[in-house]
Amino acid sequence: MNPAIRIEGVTKCFGSVQALAGVDLEIAEGEFFGLLGPNGAGKTTLISALAGLVRTDAGHLAVMGHDVVADYRAARRRLGVVPQELVFDPFFSVRESLEIQSGYFGIRDNAAWIDEILENLDLTAKADTNMRQLSGGMKRRVLVAQALVHRPPVIVLDEPTAGVDVELRQALWGFIRRLNRDGHTIVLTTHYLEEAENLCGRIAMLKQGRIVALDTTANLLRRFSGHTLRLRLAPGNGLPEALRALTKGEADGAYVFSLENCEGIEGILADLRNAGCSVDDIEVGKPDLEEVFLRVMERG
Ligand SMILES: Nc1ncnc2c1ncn2[C@@H]1O[C@H](COP(=O)(O)OP(=O)(O)OP(=O)(O)O)[C@@H](O)[C@H]1O
Ligand SMILES: [Mg+2]
Repeated sequence: MNPAIRIEGVTKCFGSVQALAGVDLEIAEGEFFGLLGPNGAGKTTLISALAGLVRTDAGHLAVMGHDVVADYRAARRRLGVVPQELVFDPFFSVRESLEIQSGYFGIRDNAAWIDEILENLDLTAKADTNMRQLSGGMKRRVLVAQALVHRPPVIVLDEPTAGVDVELRQALWGFIRRLNRDGHTIVLTTHYLEEAENLCGRIAMLKQGRIVALDTTANLLRRFSGHTLRLRLAPGNGLPEALRALTKGEADGAYVFSLENCEGIEGILADLRNAGCSVDDIEVGKPDLEEVFLRVMERG
């Protein structure tokens, strides 16, 4: 079976800036995939190349087995892209924009599906509103709707939740999750790492046009992040010498320890007890993707 997305040896320079420095990536059908990286890492460039909007210097990209250059129309037809930039035509209503977008793909009589999309993105009440009268968050919803009009099996969302309120964000993720359950492949870029952690089964981290980490979300969390223990001692208590070497430092009057797993906590507590120290407050932090991200970027 063809992967939903195949990217092989893709490079791209803008003048002296190397936006993509040799990217290889395969995303299987049905995955919920996260593409993460700091500003300027090359995420949008890669997505634009996939949509045939940017011509690469080398390499190949295919959507559902269709090369995005040689077989452009078939590839584009199978891909829905929610762009990062808010681009819209100010002269049309929401519904008209979606009808026009359907027309680009040669689809007529799309009203039932358009209604369903509008409903799911909570846009029904705005269907006849002119695009220029919408707030930023509303415009972004329309961009999501536009990406879906031709029922593409592969959906790429480039920071779909930037500037979107909490309620819609939840609704949007509910909808995207449903599309994923129905078999759609989802690729997502976001700077909200908590979102990526909750949604994505697998994640690639991009830095300066290169993939510097690629694994399941669970493995990334396991490999690069541990538990953090924050310990506040009762006034007048000093940290025992044995533990001083283990601590990562002090923050807000609390000692911070980095642990591989929960068992490490027992040893620390035993040392404290043996030294006759009393503890005021203790807090255990779980591994999170933000920590993973920072470590990977430091290392990459
Ligand atoms: N059309 C262009 N002309 C010149 N340089 C560009 C162009 N598009 C992107 N770049 C450069 O390519 C690099 C990658 O940009 P890209 O937009 O792909 O990053 P990104 O990972 O999407 O970042 P962000 O998180 O800020 O959206 C950056 O250095 C950017 O300045
Ligand atoms: Mg971008």
